[in-house]
Amino acid sequence: TAKGGMKDFLHISDFDKATIMKILDRAAEVKAHLKSGDRSLAPFKGKTMAMIFAKPSMRTRVSFESGFFLLGGHAIYLGPDDIQMGKREETRDVARVLSRYNDIIMARVFGHQDILDLAKFSSVPVINGLTDYNHPCQIMADALTIIEHIGRLEGTKVVYVGDGNNIVHSWLLLASVVPFHFVCACPKGFEPDKETVEKAQKTGISKIEITNDPKEAVKDADVVYSDVWASMGQKEEAAHRRQVFQGFQVDEALMKIAGPKAYFMHCLPAERGVEVTDGVIEAPNSIVFPQAENRMHAQNAIMLHALGL
Ligand code: CP
Ligand code: NVA
Repeated sequence: TAKGGMKDFLHISDFDKATIMKILDRAAEVKAHLKSGDRSLAPFKGKTMAMIFAKPSMRTRVSFESGFFLLGGHAIYLGPDDIQMGKREETRDVARVLSRYNDIIMARVFGHQDILDLAKFSSVPVINGLTDYNHPCQIMADALTIIEHIGRLEGTKVVYVGDGNNIVHSWLLLASVVPFHFVCACPKGFEPDKETVEKAQKTGISKIEITNDPKEAVKDADVVYSDVWASMGQKEEAAHRRQVFQGFQVDEALMKIAGPKAYFMHCLPAERGVEVTDGVIEAPNSIVFPQAENRMHAQNAIMLHALGL
């Protein structure tokens, strides 16, 4: 295979079901190991990771950096002002230089083409830490969290309420590989990428629905999922979106329609009082913090897989 047994992690759908489930099993295994307090596991010993951030981050930065360190490696944070990819230097040059100093590259960028270019020109694995198009590490962590709380992902009903954004695209790509029921309820005009929806539906793996009716959508959900209405790079649209997204707030009434078995999830950061109420985030069935924690464990397993370890 490309990169000598090593692999990029750019889209969940680049992998088959067995591989995704293997990564999730590994995540649970390494998580248990770290949680036991044992620090003897050091598969990344002697390795370095370059982390490129063109956008802000708390979870992605800290979970990657801490996770890589806890397993023996050293991670280098490169913020928006450091590399200025495509501005100070071309992406293909960044990729080739960083590959010569590091064993793995993680990047959070704006345009999806940037992550594709990084992967193309890098001689080491590239991990997608969010683009305008998708956020695969987040949805791997979400899958791990669902398995921990419900016992399985297969056959569950996950209802996303809000903007048809990068998070939704990764849910759709996961649904192209692992069978579950995915519903995206979004305002008209804010649907996810049509081509991605059609491709996911065409696989016939999962039941996939796109609707403009959140109340109908959440009925009998196992998970109700929310994200900000204005993503990074769209913050100037925030006021306008607050108007258009009326009725798409996940509040106590919507969770009541979802029913008693529904967990609440959110990739965070959340704007309380906008896409979700404070009460819903703080409720006992909200699993947003175990979900955030699982970023680190899912990514550790993703990096192990990418490095062929
Ligand atoms: N969920 C997530 O990716 O958070 P950050 O933007 O803080 O990394
Ligand atoms: N959709 C959000 C996710 C943040 C983790 C954004 O892209 O800003």
